[in-house]
Amino acid sequence: MKNPIIPFYRQSDKLVVKAKGCYLYDSEGNQYIDFESGDWAANLGHSHEKINQAIKNQIDCSIHDGLRFRNEPSEICAFRLMEKLAMDGGKCVFLNSGSEAVNLGITLAMNLTRRKKILKMDCSFLSSFGYGKISPENTHLINIPMNNADAIKQINLEEIAAFVFEPGNAHGLIKFPTNDFINKIATSIKQHGGLLMANEVTTGFGRTGKWFGFQHYNYKPDIVSVGKGLGNGYPVSCVTISKEVSGLFDMAPFRYAQSHQNDPLGCAVGLAVINTFDEEGIIQQSFEKGKYFEIRLLELQSHHKDKIKEVRARGLMLALELAPEIKAEDIYLQLIDKGYLVGQKENVLRFMPPFIMEEGLMIQLINTLDNLL
Ligand SMILES: Cc1ncc(COP(=O)(O)O)c(C=O)c1O
Repeated sequence: MKNPIIPFYRQSDKLVVKAKGCYLYDSEGNQYIDFESGDWAANLGHSHEKINQAIKNQIDCSIHDGLRFRNEPSEICAFRLMEKLAMDGGKCVFLNSGSEAVNLGITLAMNLTRRKKILKMDCSFLSSFGYGKISPENTHLINIPMNNADAIKQINLEEIAAFVFEPGNAHGLIKFPTNDFINKIATSIKQHGGLLMANEVTTGFGRTGKWFGFQHYNYKPDIVSVGKGLGNGYPVSCVTISKEVSGLFDMAPFRYAQSHQNDPLGCAVGLAVINTFDEEGIIQQSFEKGKYFEIRLLELQSHHKDKIKEVRARGLMLALELAPEIKAEDIYLQLIDKGYLVGQKENVLRFMPPFIMEEGLMIQLINTLDNLL
C-alpha cells in the first residue's frame, strides 16, 4: 500500500497494529520493546486497562459538549492537577497538545505582563508552532546558555514576559541545569516583574522521579504547561495558572476558545491517569526503576570506558553519551532490528520507558548494548 501520509518526518515502512504495555507489534508479527513510551507520553504503558476503562465510561456520557456549559471531569481533573502542582487556588484550562498548552501559557504571560519576549535555556524545546517554535522568524524567544548565570547580565530583563523552564531537555541531549543557575534566573526574572513558567510537557507526570521536573528545584511557577503524560497517549494538555496569576487574569481577561477546550473525554482520561498514579504508587516506581536503570548503565559504562563518555539520568529519563568515534545512529538502527526502540540524537542514546517496565527488560537492553558496543 502506498503511504498517503505527508512525510513531514521520517517514517519506517512497518505498520504498527497494536501497542500494549511496553510493547509495539507490527503487521509482520515483530515485537518491539518501547523505551520511548510512544512519543514520551504513555508513561503508564500503552493501552492501560484503567485508562481504557475511563475512556469507555466517558464515551457513554459525553465526548464533547461544546463551550456553553461547565463539565465535571474538567473541574475534578483541574483540582487534582493543582493539588499535585501545589498550585491550590489557581485555575486550569484543558487543550489537546503540548504545543497548544505552551503557546497559551506564553500568551497568558505576554498579555498579563504586556511584554513580548520569552526567555528560555538554549537547549530547551517549547513547541512545534507559535511563540514557542524555534525558528529565525520567531523573534520572541531569547536564549540563555544552560548553566551560564553570568549571561543574565546581557539580557534586558525588563522586556521578558516569562522564563519558560523546560527541566529535562528531552529533544536535545538530556541535560539537567544546576539548582544555582535556575535559582539565579528565577530571582532575576521576579525582581524585574516577569513570570515563571514551567514547561512540563515531557518532564511532567513522574518522568523525572517526581510529579513534575521543576520540583527538583526551588522553583515556584506562575504558569505550568503539561501534555503527553496527562493523557498517557490520548491527546489532552493543560495550562495551570497560580492564584496570583488568576487574579491578574480577572483584572485583564481575554477570550480564547478552541473547539475541544475542556472536552470531558480528555479530562476524564487525565483524571484516570492521576488516580492511577496514586493508586499504584507510580511516582515511587519511576524513581526506583530510574535508579536501577541508571546503576546498570553505569556498570555498562565501566565495561566500556573508552566507548561511553557519560551516563545522565533523572528518574526514568536517561541518556548514554557515546564517545565521538562511535556512531550512535548505527547502534540505534541495530537496536530497532533487534526489537528495541530507543531515542537517538547526535552521539546520545536516550531511554524514556513506561514506568511499568520490568527490570528484566532493562537488563535485556543493556546486554544487547553490551554486545553491540
Ligand atoms: C518539552 C516539550 N514541550 C512541548 C512539546 C510539544 O508537545 P506536542 O508535541 O504535544 O505539541 C514537546 C513535544 O515533544 C516537548 O518535548
